[in-house]
Amino acid sequence: MNQSRLNNPVALITGANSGIGEAIAHRLAADGYTIVVNGRREAENQRVARELKEKHQVHTHVLTGDVSEEPTCQNLVTETVALTGRLDVLINNAGVGSQGTRIADSDTATFDRVLKTNLYSCYWLSREAFRQMEQQALSEERSLRGAIINIASVCGVEAWAGAGIYCTSKHGMMALTHAMAEEGEEAAIRVAAICPAMVATAMTGVSGEAYIQPTDIANTVHYLLSLSPAAWPKEIVVNRRGAD
Ligand SMILES: NC(=O)c1ccc[n+]([C@@H]2O[C@H](COP(=O)([O-])OP(=O)(O)OC[C@H]3O[C@@H](n4cnc5c(N)ncnc54)[C@H](OP(=O)(O)O)[C@@H]3O)[C@@H](O)[C@H]2O)c1
Repeated sequence: MNQSRLNNPVALITGANSGIGEAIAHRLAADGYTIVVNGRREAENQRVARELKEKHQVHTHVLTGDVSEEPTCQNLVTETVALTGRLDVLINNAGVGSQGTRIADSDTATFDRVLKTNLYSCYWLSREAFRQMEQQALSEERSLRGAIINIASVCGVEAWAGAGIYCTSKHGMMALTHAMAEEGEEAAIRVAAICPAMVATAMTGVSGEAYIQPTDIANTVHYLLSLSPAAWPKEIVVNRRGAD
Protein backbone atom coordinates (compact mmCIF):
# COMPACT_ATOMS: atom_id res chain seq x y z
CA MET A 1 0.00 0.00 0.00
CA ASN A 2 1.33 3.46 -0.87
CA GLN A 3 1.94 5.25 2.47
CA SER A 4 0.71 8.62 1.14
CA ARG A 5 -2.71 7.12 0.55
CA LEU A 6 -3.18 6.71 4.29
CA ASN A 7 -3.36 10.49 4.63
CA ASN A 8 -6.26 10.92 2.24
CA PRO A 9 -9.84 10.00 3.13
CA VAL A 10 -11.24 7.24 0.95
CA ALA A 11 -14.61 7.23 -0.86
CA LEU A 12 -16.16 4.21 -2.57
CA ILE A 13 -18.76 5.37 -5.11
CA THR A 14 -21.02 2.89 -6.89
CA GLY A 15 -22.20 3.88 -10.36
CA ALA A 16 -19.39 6.43 -10.52
CA ASN A 17 -18.96 6.32 -14.30
CA SER A 18 -22.02 8.41 -15.25
CA GLY A 19 -24.41 11.17 -14.19
CA ILE A 20 -24.76 11.80 -10.46
CA GLY A 21 -22.08 9.30 -9.40
CA GLU A 22 -19.49 10.81 -11.74
CA ALA A 23 -20.26 14.31 -10.45
CA ILE A 24 -19.89 13.10 -6.84
CA ALA A 25 -16.55 11.50 -7.75
CA HIS A 26 -15.27 14.84 -9.08
CA ARG A 27 -16.60 16.78 -6.08
CA LEU A 28 -14.96 14.45 -3.55
CA ALA A 29 -11.75 14.27 -5.60
CA ALA A 30 -11.65 18.07 -5.47
CA ASP A 31 -11.91 17.69 -1.68
CA GLY A 32 -8.85 15.42 -1.72
CA TYR A 33 -10.47 12.01 -1.40
CA THR A 34 -8.97 8.88 -2.87
CA ILE A 35 -11.78 7.66 -5.13
CA VAL A 36 -12.77 4.04 -5.72
CA VAL A 37 -14.76 3.96 -8.95
CA ASN A 38 -17.41 1.26 -9.43
CA GLY A 39 -19.78 0.47 -12.28
CA ARG A 40 -20.24 -2.54 -14.57
CA ARG A 41 -18.48 -1.02 -17.61
CA GLU A 42 -14.72 -1.35 -17.16
CA ALA A 43 -13.82 1.09 -19.97
CA GLU A 44 -16.08 3.82 -18.55
CA ASN A 45 -14.71 3.24 -15.05
CA GLN A 46 -11.16 3.61 -16.40
CA ARG A 47 -12.13 6.81 -18.24
CA VAL A 48 -13.48 8.39 -15.06
CA ALA A 49 -10.47 7.28 -13.01
CA ARG A 50 -8.15 8.82 -15.61
CA GLU A 51 -10.08 12.10 -15.68
CA LEU A 52 -10.15 12.30 -11.87
CA LYS A 53 -6.39 11.86 -11.72
CA GLU A 54 -5.76 14.42 -14.47
CA LYS A 55 -8.10 17.04 -13.05
CA HIS A 56 -7.57 16.66 -9.29
CA GLN A 57 -4.23 14.80 -8.93
CA VAL A 58 -5.83 12.24 -6.59
CA HIS A 59 -5.35 8.52 -6.15
CA THR A 60 -8.01 6.38 -7.81
CA HIS A 61 -8.88 2.70 -7.99
CA VAL A 62 -11.27 0.94 -10.33
CA LEU A 63 -13.36 -1.92 -8.97
CA THR A 64 -15.61 -3.04 -11.81
CA GLY A 65 -18.61 -5.15 -10.82
CA ASP A 66 -22.35 -5.64 -10.68
CA VAL A 67 -23.74 -4.49 -7.31
CA SER A 68 -26.93 -6.50 -7.81
CA GLU A 69 -24.87 -9.49 -6.61
CA GLU A 70 -23.98 -9.93 -2.93
CA PRO A 71 -20.39 -11.22 -3.44
CA THR A 72 -19.58 -8.15 -5.55
CA CYS A 73 -20.76 -5.86 -2.76
CA GLN A 74 -18.77 -7.75 -0.14
CA ASN A 75 -15.68 -7.64 -2.36
CA LEU A 76 -16.06 -3.93 -3.03
CA VAL A 77 -15.66 -3.14 0.66
CA THR A 78 -12.96 -5.76 1.29
CA GLU A 79 -10.96 -4.69 -1.76
CA THR A 80 -11.27 -0.99 -0.96
CA VAL A 81 -9.83 -1.57 2.50
CA ALA A 82 -7.11 -3.87 1.11
CA LEU A 83 -6.09 -1.18 -1.40
CA THR A 84 -6.31 1.90 0.81
CA GLY A 85 -6.39 0.75 4.45
CA ARG A 86 -9.68 2.50 5.23
CA LEU A 87 -13.19 3.36 4.05
CA ASP A 88 -14.34 6.83 5.06
CA VAL A 89 -17.30 7.35 2.75
CA LEU A 90 -19.60 4.94 0.92
CA ILE A 91 -21.89 6.46 -1.69
CA ASN A 92 -24.69 4.05 -2.64
CA ASN A 93 -25.49 5.59 -6.00
CA ALA A 94 -25.74 2.80 -8.62
CA GLY A 95 -29.32 2.45 -9.71
CA VAL A 96 -31.74 1.63 -12.48
CA GLY A 97 -35.25 2.86 -13.23
CA SER A 98 -38.49 1.09 -14.11
CA GLN A 99 -40.66 4.01 -15.14
CA GLY A 100 -43.79 3.43 -17.16
CA THR A 101 -45.11 0.10 -15.96
CA ARG A 102 -48.20 -0.37 -13.81
CA ILE A 103 -47.69 -2.94 -11.08
CA ALA A 104 -50.51 -4.97 -12.67
CA ASP A 105 -48.52 -5.11 -15.93
CA SER A 106 -45.14 -5.79 -14.35
CA ASP A 107 -43.21 -9.03 -13.93
CA THR A 108 -41.02 -10.60 -11.29
CA ALA A 109 -37.86 -10.34 -13.40
CA THR A 110 -38.16 -6.54 -13.48
CA PHE A 111 -38.98 -6.36 -9.77
CA ASP A 112 -35.93 -8.53 -9.00
CA ARG A 113 -33.60 -6.50 -11.23
CA VAL A 114 -34.64 -3.13 -9.79
CA LEU A 115 -34.79 -4.27 -6.16
CA LYS A 116 -31.45 -6.10 -6.37
CA THR A 117 -29.69 -3.15 -8.03
CA ASN A 118 -31.20 -0.32 -6.00
CA LEU A 119 -32.11 -1.80 -2.61
CA TYR A 120 -30.26 -5.06 -1.98
CA SER A 121 -26.98 -3.43 -3.06
CA CYS A 122 -27.60 -0.66 -0.56
CA TYR A 123 -28.25 -3.25 2.18
CA TRP A 124 -25.22 -5.40 1.32
CA LEU A 125 -22.78 -2.53 0.87
CA SER A 126 -24.01 -0.54 3.88
CA ARG A 127 -23.85 -3.60 6.13
CA GLU A 128 -20.29 -4.42 5.10
CA ALA A 129 -19.17 -0.79 5.21
CA PHE A 130 -20.72 -0.21 8.64
CA ARG A 131 -18.88 -3.24 10.04
CA GLN A 132 -15.61 -1.87 8.65
CA MET A 133 -16.26 1.68 9.86
CA GLU A 134 -17.08 0.53 13.40
CA GLN A 135 -13.51 -0.78 13.67
CA GLN A 136 -11.93 2.46 12.45
CA ALA A 137 -10.64 5.32 14.54
CA LEU A 138 -12.48 8.64 14.40
CA SER A 139 -11.16 10.76 11.56
CA GLU A 140 -9.34 13.82 12.95
CA GLU A 141 -10.90 16.17 10.44
CA ARG A 142 -14.57 15.21 10.86
CA SER A 143 -14.79 13.30 14.15
CA LEU A 144 -16.62 10.52 12.32
CA ARG A 145 -15.69 6.88 11.91
CA GLY A 146 -17.28 7.00 8.48
CA ALA A 147 -20.25 8.11 6.42
CA ILE A 148 -22.74 6.26 4.24
CA ILE A 149 -24.74 8.39 1.83
CA ASN A 150 -27.57 6.84 -0.12
CA ILE A 151 -28.72 8.44 -3.37
CA ALA A 152 -32.42 7.64 -3.06
CA SER A 153 -35.03 9.82 -4.82
CA VAL A 154 -38.18 11.83 -4.30
CA CYS A 155 -39.60 8.41 -5.26
CA GLY A 156 -38.37 7.34 -1.82
CA VAL A 157 -40.73 9.74 -0.07
CA GLU A 158 -43.68 9.67 -2.50
CA ALA A 159 -45.02 7.17 -5.03
CA TRP A 160 -46.67 7.50 -8.41
CA ALA A 161 -48.63 5.29 -10.76
CA GLY A 162 -46.30 3.72 -13.29
CA ALA A 163 -43.25 4.01 -11.04
CA GLY A 164 -44.27 1.52 -8.36
CA ILE A 165 -41.29 -0.83 -8.55
CA TYR A 166 -38.73 1.98 -8.59
CA CYS A 167 -40.59 3.74 -5.73
CA THR A 168 -40.63 0.50 -3.74
CA SER A 169 -36.85 0.18 -4.09
CA LYS A 170 -36.29 3.79 -3.07
CA HIS A 171 -38.72 3.63 -0.12
CA GLY A 172 -36.74 0.61 1.04
CA MET A 173 -33.53 2.64 0.82
CA MET A 174 -35.16 5.30 3.02
CA ALA A 175 -36.10 2.77 5.70
CA LEU A 176 -32.56 1.39 5.69
CA THR A 177 -31.20 4.93 5.92
CA HIS A 178 -33.37 5.99 8.85
CA ALA A 179 -32.67 2.82 10.85
CA MET A 180 -28.93 2.92 10.16
CA ALA A 181 -28.72 6.66 10.90
CA GLU A 182 -29.86 5.83 14.45
CA GLU A 183 -27.64 2.77 14.65
CA GLY A 184 -24.68 4.94 13.60
CA GLU A 185 -25.10 7.59 16.29
CA GLU A 186 -23.08 5.87 19.01
CA ALA A 187 -20.14 4.96 16.78
CA ALA A 188 -20.30 8.30 14.93
CA ILE A 189 -21.06 6.73 11.57
CA ARG A 190 -23.14 9.18 9.57
CA VAL A 191 -25.90 7.62 7.46
CA ALA A 192 -28.10 9.87 5.33
CA ALA A 193 -30.11 9.85 2.13
CA ILE A 194 -30.36 12.43 -0.62
CA CYS A 195 -33.68 12.42 -2.46
CA PRO A 196 -33.43 14.28 -5.78
CA ALA A 197 -36.27 15.14 -8.12
CA MET A 198 -35.48 14.93 -11.84
CA VAL A 199 -31.78 15.32 -12.60
CA ALA A 200 -30.29 15.81 -16.07
CA THR A 201 -28.54 12.45 -16.60
CA ALA A 202 -28.54 9.50 -19.01
CA MET A 203 -31.16 7.80 -16.81
CA THR A 204 -33.77 10.50 -17.40
CA GLY A 205 -32.56 11.62 -20.83
CA VAL A 206 -33.40 15.24 -20.02
CA SER A 207 -30.99 18.16 -20.17
CA GLY A 208 -30.89 21.90 -19.72
CA GLU A 209 -31.13 24.49 -16.98
CA ALA A 210 -34.72 23.60 -16.05
CA TYR A 211 -33.42 20.38 -14.50
CA ILE A 212 -31.39 19.69 -11.41
CA GLN A 213 -27.75 19.18 -12.37
CA PRO A 214 -25.60 16.24 -11.20
CA THR A 215 -23.30 18.83 -9.59
CA ASP A 216 -26.24 19.95 -7.39
CA ILE A 217 -26.39 16.48 -5.89
CA ALA A 218 -22.60 16.29 -5.64
CA ASN A 219 -22.64 19.59 -3.73
CA THR A 220 -25.29 18.15 -1.40
CA VAL A 221 -22.98 15.23 -0.65
CA HIS A 222 -20.16 17.70 0.04
CA TYR A 223 -22.49 19.66 2.37
CA LEU A 224 -23.47 16.54 4.32
CA LEU A 225 -19.82 15.60 4.74
CA SER A 226 -18.92 19.11 5.95
CA LEU A 227 -21.34 19.05 8.90
CA SER A 228 -20.18 18.69 12.47
CA PRO A 229 -21.10 15.35 14.09
CA ALA A 230 -23.74 17.15 16.19
CA ALA A 231 -25.74 17.77 13.01
CA TRP A 232 -27.38 14.47 12.06
CA PRO A 233 -29.81 14.92 9.15
CA LYS A 234 -31.23 11.63 7.91
CA GLU A 235 -32.52 12.86 4.57
CA ILE A 236 -32.30 15.85 2.27
CA VAL A 237 -35.01 16.18 -0.38
CA VAL A 238 -33.90 18.19 -3.42
CA ASN A 239 -37.06 19.35 -5.15
CA ARG A 240 -37.07 20.98 -8.58
CA ARG A 241 -38.25 24.56 -9.05
CA GLY A 242 -41.59 24.71 -10.81
CA ALA A 243 -42.30 20.99 -10.48
CA ASP A 244 -44.48 19.11 -7.98
N1 LIG B 1 -31.52 11.17 -12.70
C1 LIG B 1 -32.49 11.40 -11.84
O1 LIG B 1 -33.47 12.17 -12.11
C2 LIG B 1 -32.49 10.77 -10.48
C3 LIG B 1 -33.36 11.28 -9.51
C4 LIG B 1 -33.37 10.71 -8.25
C5 LIG B 1 -32.50 9.68 -7.97
N2 LIG B 1 -31.66 9.20 -8.92
C6 LIG B 1 -30.78 8.09 -8.56
O2 LIG B 1 -29.43 8.50 -8.74
C7 LIG B 1 -28.63 7.36 -9.02
C8 LIG B 1 -27.75 7.65 -10.23
O3 LIG B 1 -28.59 7.87 -11.35
P1 LIG B 1 -28.18 8.70 -12.64
O4 LIG B 1 -29.35 9.52 -12.99
O5 LIG B 1 -26.85 9.34 -12.43
O6 LIG B 1 -28.10 7.52 -13.70
P2 LIG B 1 -27.05 7.10 -14.81
O7 LIG B 1 -26.40 8.27 -15.41
O8 LIG B 1 -27.80 6.13 -15.67
O9 LIG B 1 -25.95 6.30 -13.96
C9 LIG B 1 -26.23 5.09 -13.35
C10 LIG B 1 -24.92 4.52 -12.84
O10 LIG B 1 -25.19 3.29 -12.14
C11 LIG B 1 -24.32 2.28 -12.64
N3 LIG B 1 -25.01 1.00 -12.49
C12 LIG B 1 -26.25 0.65 -12.92
N4 LIG B 1 -26.52 -0.63 -12.58
C13 LIG B 1 -25.42 -1.08 -11.92
C14 LIG B 1 -25.09 -2.32 -11.34
N5 LIG B 1 -25.94 -3.35 -11.35
N6 LIG B 1 -23.87 -2.46 -10.75
C15 LIG B 1 -23.00 -1.41 -10.72
N7 LIG B 1 -23.27 -0.21 -11.26
C16 LIG B 1 -24.46 -0.05 -11.86
C17 LIG B 1 -24.05 2.68 -14.10
O11 LIG B 1 -22.83 2.17 -14.59
P3 LIG B 1 -22.74 0.81 -15.48
O12 LIG B 1 -23.79 0.91 -16.54
O13 LIG B 1 -21.32 0.81 -15.99
O14 LIG B 1 -22.98 -0.31 -14.54
C18 LIG B 1 -23.95 4.19 -13.96
O15 LIG B 1 -22.64 4.54 -13.54
C19 LIG B 1 -29.59 6.18 -9.20
O16 LIG B 1 -29.64 5.44 -8.01
C20 LIG B 1 -30.93 6.86 -9.44
O17 LIG B 1 -32.00 6.06 -9.04
C21 LIG B 1 -31.62 9.72 -10.17
